[in-house]
Amino acid sequence: MEKTGYNYDIVKSYVHWSILWGTVAVLVGVLIAFQLVYPSLNLEPYLTYGRLRPLHTNAGIFGWGIGSFFALFFYIVQRLCRRPLWSVGLARFQLYFFNATIIAAAVTLLLGFNTSKEYHELEWPLDIMVVILWVVFSINIIMTIVKRKEEHMYISLWYMLATIVGVAVLYIVNAAEIPVSLFKSYSAYAGTNDANVQWWFGHNAVAMVLTAPPLAIFYYFLPKSTGVPIYSHRMSIIAFWSLIFMYLWTGAHHLIWTPVPDWIQTLALVFSLMLIAPSWGSVFNGYLSMGGQWHQMRENYLVKFFILGITFYGLQTLQGPSQAVRTFSAFIHFTEWVPGHVHMGTMGWVSMVLFAGVYCIFPKIYGREVYSIPLANLHFWLVLIGQLIYSVSMWIAGIQQASMWHSMNPDGNLTYTFVETLAQLYPYWTIRAVSGVIYLAGVLVFIYNLIMTARSPEASLSAAAQNV
Ligand code: HEM
Ligand code: HEM
Repeated sequence: MEKTGYNYDIVKSYVHWSILWGTVAVLVGVLIAFQLVYPSLNLEPYLTYGRLRPLHTNAGIFGWGIGSFFALFFYIVQRLCRRPLWSVGLARFQLYFFNATIIAAAVTLLLGFNTSKEYHELEWPLDIMVVILWVVFSINIIMTIVKRKEEHMYISLWYMLATIVGVAVLYIVNAAEIPVSLFKSYSAYAGTNDANVQWWFGHNAVAMVLTAPPLAIFYYFLPKSTGVPIYSHRMSIIAFWSLIFMYLWTGAHHLIWTPVPDWIQTLALVFSLMLIAPSWGSVFNGYLSMGGQWHQMRENYLVKFFILGITFYGLQTLQGPSQAVRTFSAFIHFTEWVPGHVHMGTMGWVSMVLFAGVYCIFPKIYGREVYSIPLANLHFWLVLIGQLIYSVSMWIAGIQQASMWHSMNPDGNLTYTFVETLAQLYPYWTIRAVSGVIYLAGVLVFIYNLIMTARSPEASLSAAAQNV
């Protein structure tokens, strides 16, 4: 604990656990990538692709993503409110409960309990655990903000509040279900209504989990890393409110060409296109904040992570709207193109910002400078190369797959059978698996660097590290 009374011990514990779950997510990602190439790696019944895939997505989004948001939010909220966390006891309880939920999720998914709703696979007893967890977290953050000693609310606090409210509403509405046994429930909605609610949840999970929290972190740590303030506070607030307003209408872009009413699909399409503006509001704010500071891209590894992260966010929010356009959706939907899109966001945007956020706070919570900057740079290049190879190989695979599916003979028959299109994917899947190994190597370098930092002798911090 510092003289200020800020509590960093709790932040430290969250960092450790989120990195552990992140490593599990990446390891399982690599395993399922290899399973597609070598089906014999599927070990019946627990370690099959069908059971490991949701384990991968849950460990990635909830274990690594949300776990590190907890850590970094608990750090940032104290600094921005100029007061200690409202309740450290509650935060500690939340940590135990978080880990218990993640373990219960892993076990039940491997046992085959699954609601079949993507990103909401956990059965109803676990839904209750998630709700308790979220209420505890929300109370702590909201009370810290209510009792803050700093009047001005910096943009990161707005994004945190949006995450808290957004996730609560989405999760509870989509979780409405009727339990029929301890681990089986049926959705309270039926048919197209069910699909609509599910993808309203699904895409807003992208907004409230994979967009708002990394933006909160980006807005806080980019100025801390460069040493110059964010370009425009007003622009950040305008982008915030328009982003929140627009995201809520876009869920049905996952249901283009389905029996969902046409007008709902059109609404989602139009709002998806409009979303480019608030998304790029933050991208430009980030770039403009670098005015006169671009040399730091060479000298400062933190800036490299943040600027590449926001660049992937920018590309992601151009690619996403294009996928909502009917003609393009008809081409790429159900193909490998979509995992390419997903991983530019998760391995690029979200994870780059999280890696950098952890590097920023590590000296502060451990009282030591980061062990090796060359290793941090090596980490940067490995995850960048791994991610690029992953996404580009999947985009090419998706285009080839879609072209083969759409190819017709002059007599109107399909040129290729489904199995013929599948056989063409093997080289791409192999490349993707190798890219996963490169990314995993980057993550291991990151962990080694952090362990060595924690074990190095305590030293007085540089002014830059003090200022975070
Ligand atoms: C302007 C912003 C965005 C728009 C309009 C958008 C649009 C879309 C569309 C239309 C799809 C469906 C593709 C299909 O299956 O045919 C999709 C999938 C997806 N997007 Fe985005 N996207 C955006 C940003 C992001 C960001 C920032 C992330 C963060 C990682 C992300 C993560 C995902 C994920 C995880 C899926 C896969 C969902 C599934 O399981 O089917 N998107 N996106
Ligand atoms: C080495 C790194 C990674 C590898 C090798 C990997 C591999 C994979 C594979 C093979 C799939 C299944 C694709 C399919 O069904 O066609 C997948 C899906 C997914 N992964 Fe990863 N992954 C990695 C990192 C991550 C991370 C860090 C996250 C989240 C923070 C993540 C989130 C997801 C999501 C949301 C999906 C579902 C995509 C969809 O439904 O279209 N992945 N991943």
